Amino acid sequence: MSRIIAFSNCKGGSGKTTTAVNVSAALAHRGRMVLLIDTDPQGHASLSLGISRKNIKGDLFAFLVDNANSLDVIQDTYISRLKIIPSSKRLVDFERNYSRVREARVFLARRLAEVEEHFDYIIFDTPPNLSLLSFSALIAAREVFIPVQAHFLGMKGVFDMMRLLYRIRNLYNKDLELKGIILTFYNDKMRLSKAVVAEIKKTLGDNVFLHPVRNNISLAEAPMFGRSIFQYNGKCQGAVDYLKIANQIEKM
Ligand SMILES: Nc1ncnc2c1ncn2[C@@H]1O[C@H](COP(=O)(O)OP(=O)(O)OP(=O)(O)O)[C@@H](O)[C@H]1O
Ligand SMILES: [Mg+2]
Repeated sequence: MSRIIAFSNCKGGSGKTTTAVNVSAALAHRGRMVLLIDTDPQGHASLSLGISRKNIKGDLFAFLVDNANSLDVIQDTYISRLKIIPSSKRLVDFERNYSRVREARVFLARRLAEVEEHFDYIIFDTPPNLSLLSFSALIAAREVFIPVQAHFLGMKGVFDMMRLLYRIRNLYNKDLELKGIILTFYNDKMRLSKAVVAEIKKTLGDNVFLHPVRNNISLAEAPMFGRSIFQYNGKCQGAVDYLKIANQIEKM
């Protein structure tokens, strides 16, 4: 059975896309077959792998709405074992036209069942809101990791996410498991709120925090070149951190 993972946080700019792209790349480099699904209309995960609107054959909208053949929407990336279903602006229409159609929330989960067997990992990058597309990813996923900016307000947001996951579990996806929290933009010298850390651990267990991702400018630069951190600057801290995180995820 493949592992279906969402990197999710309603809060914007928490490192979801950077984490989804670089963990996917690390797993593919380790020999796993990975499908990254860009569920964010912003399309940042697609762009981060050098896939722009001009060079896509199909997109997530076609997969969800037009019932397009998976062979037409799953696209190669420059990394051989990493495939992607790209986002496009049309996902805004999906949000607009289907948000009142209850059944639309399970379109993604249903279609994934057809392609799942070909991949070891299916990974979702999700938008920064409680949209239909975020819901769709969390309904289709089996595991969630929450990337969180390592500061007081960012970490407080974890509790909002826990409430959301509780709701998704009750209504749609009882198997959905919160597997871990990834602190991003981390700096060794920063003082984390001990109270918030303790509260999170009390609810989710002592081992809930994965290796943190340090603040590293190469991580912000790599998307400009459409490359993962491993190809852009394989020796930087960002590469070291994401490799460790991918290893931890593999062992879970
Ligand atoms: N550890 C880091 N160090 C430095 N810059 C980073 C780091 N992680 C991410 N960035 C940069 O910070 C910005 C926000 O990160 P990212 O796009 O991954 O967040 P996001 O949660 O996907 O945002 P959104 O909510 O808009 O989808 C991006 O420009 C990214 O390149
Ligand atoms: Mg993003």
